[in-house]
Amino acid sequence: MSASRLGVGLIGAHTWADKAHLPGYQAHEQVDLIAVCDIDPDRARAMAEKYGAKKVYTDPEQLIADPDVQMVDVCTPTFTHLPLSLAAIAGGKHVLSEKPLHTEAAPAFDAAARADAAGVRTKLGFTFRYSPAIRQLKSWIADGTLGEIFHIHGFEQNSQWLDPDFPLRQVTPGAPRDRLIPSSIIGYGSHLIDLMRWLGGEFGSVASTMKNFIPDRVIRGEPGRQRILIEDGAVALVEYANGTQGMLQTSYIAVGNYPGVEIRVYGSKGAAVARLISEFGTAETLKFATAEEVEFKPFEIGTSALPPGTTLATPWPELYYRNLVRHFVDEILEDRPQECTFYDGAKSQEIVDAIILAHQERRWVDLPGHSA
Ligand SMILES: NC(=O)c1ccc[n+]([C@@H]2O[C@H](COP(=O)([O-])OP(=O)(O)OC[C@H]3O[C@@H](n4cnc5c(N)ncnc54)[C@H](O)[C@@H]3O)[C@@H](O)[C@H]2O)c1
Repeated sequence: MSASRLGVGLIGAHTWADKAHLPGYQAHEQVDLIAVCDIDPDRARAMAEKYGAKKVYTDPEQLIADPDVQMVDVCTPTFTHLPLSLAAIAGGKHVLSEKPLHTEAAPAFDAAARADAAGVRTKLGFTFRYSPAIRQLKSWIADGTLGEIFHIHGFEQNSQWLDPDFPLRQVTPGAPRDRLIPSSIIGYGSHLIDLMRWLGGEFGSVASTMKNFIPDRVIRGEPGRQRILIEDGAVALVEYANGTQGMLQTSYIAVGNYPGVEIRVYGSKGAAVARLISEFGTAETLKFATAEEVEFKPFEIGTSALPPGTTLATPWPELYYRNLVRHFVDEILEDRPQECTFYDGAKSQEIVDAIILAHQERRWVDLPGHSA
């Protein structure tokens, strides 16, 4: 495709669309925001007005069928991501979906294959790939600055649910309450694992331990505190297929601010630490050391690494999503290589599943195609 403009339609006009997705379209000079759709007409109307969309729909099928829409953005609750994305693919539209595409890997792999067969592009909303600090880290790995990569450590943790009276919203209705329900490893792990896989390559095998630390909690829509064995902290060891050693932790009861992502990469020539944690008005920091100068020094993230019009003081959802949207639109308009696709979402899901199985069976689990 070598058009000069892209018509975009967004489905799901609420909090995250407003904080992250829509500012990205507004800031891209080659995007026409054609339509906004929500089953709640007031929300659709309000968001269309705020961001200048020409049309308002309450039926996603109508938005997908609109001939002026070339790219569909799915920003609805999780259980709708897959059916809406498949409808967009079947309609011949490029599609950006919020994560996860599905809570099982197989349907996500299938959706990726369907998009390839239909000749449309996909992107999954792995927000933190579009952090300028993470992209700098990625380029230091790719160009050999860090040398051979020995260790990758990843964290996604904050204190979002440290207070047991802050209503938990991750509970699937009807889920059994008497055994451990994987939670932080699903909600946070999908992002973190995608980052670690993007930076370090395919995972070979994983071992893990998951735990419930706070058993009595308020659950959204239920009275008082309930006993629920929700996993609020997980740790995993990773053997990468290429021999790199990894470890990761997810937790939503670890004191600290959002989003709470930290990646440390240690190589034969150098090391770097990216902290994506909003602290004192700055979205992220990056530090770098070499084998010769082992004291970590701050690395200044230059304005050229930031999406136009942003600074490191821009709130992280907008900062990262403006970058993500810009990459996807430019990939489509300029026929650039795909990145962060539905296939990557499926791979991340496959690894989350392996980590859960490793805990449940207290053993190392090999990823498909790998044997230790
Ligand atoms: N990538 C990230 O870092 C990140 C961060 C926050 C949220 N999210 C994800 O973004 C998505 C949206 O989050 P939110 O907090 O705005 O959710 P929300 O539930 O507040 O809003 C979703 C909107 O979608 C609408 N909707 C539901 N089903 C629909 C359908 N079939 N057709 C049209 N509209 C429909 C709802 O009416 C609602 O207005 C979720 O999947 C969430 O997990 C991702």
